[in-house]
Amino acid sequence: MTARIIDGKTIAAELRARVADEVARVKREHNLLPGLAVVLVGNDPASEVYVRSKHTQTQAAGMASFEHKLPADVSQDELLALIARLNRDPAVHGILVQLPLPKGLHTETIINAIDPAKDVDGLHPHNAGRLAGGFAALSPCTPLGCIILTKSVHASIEGMNAIVIGRSNLVGRPLLQLLLNENATVTIAHSRSRDLPELTRRADLVYAAVGRPEMVRADWVKPGATVIDVGINRLPTTEGKTRLVGDVAFEEVRRVAGAITPVPGGVGQMTVACLLVNTLRAACAIAGAPKPAV
Ligand code: GUN
Repeated sequence: MTARIIDGKTIAAELRARVADEVARVKREHNLLPGLAVVLVGNDPASEVYVRSKHTQTQAAGMASFEHKLPADVSQDELLALIARLNRDPAVHGILVQLPLPKGLHTETIINAIDPAKDVDGLHPHNAGRLAGGFAALSPCTPLGCIILTKSVHASIEGMNAIVIGRSNLVGRPLLQLLLNENATVTIAHSRSRDLPELTRRADLVYAAVGRPEMVRADWVKPGATVIDVGINRLPTTEGKTRLVGDVAFEEVRRVAGAITPVPGGVGQMTVACLLVNTLRAACAIAGAPKPAV
């Protein structure tokens, strides 16, 4: 048996097209131009690539994109002043501060300064708390993407056993909450979990979000399980370049799993598409327009 490959590229493109249609409609019907502000501090090469892609895709969806690039040695007060300006700016409906931040900046303080109504990353405690309480919230984009990819395989995941490997604020914890809202039975595992292979073998749905290259092996996976790989690890090649690998040993796990996401071309594609969804939703909520159809 070999697994069905979940095509994140195509699913993300379809989602972006639906967002673009809705953006055109809210412009027409409500005179509303959704706007996303992305703040990049310093020059981490991976972050620069992500931010460029967010900018291009935001514009391609017909939304306004505002990029703010600050030097790595910017003071916390200057960054907080920029966030306060963006919070007040009526053209900005979504604010994303690219993580990780350079040393010297206190991530929690920065995230807490974002207006929760504009927190399209879903990281502010207001949104994280609402999600954990089962209330409507802006939710983090990568976990939202994981749910959409899962639903491309299973229309309903009610009652299924899911394991989330990794407990980060950006992925593992919010993904746990989204899966619970879908009525899955969820185990959250992490570096201190005992007998991770055995825990993983019980799962119908496996989410690997640890940042350890190819950690999930074929003998960890129940035959037929759906495997969603959130990892993006850059490994050096013998030619002195880098290649991307996930947290799942793709070539061996695809022979056991029922469905699997590739890296690249899986979850990564969904994150920006879901950011556009969140920006559109935030814009409609702030403007008092009806909820969009995505
Ligand atoms: N860095 C890597 N992924 C993300 C993300 O989804 N949001 C933010 N703000 N930073 C990131």
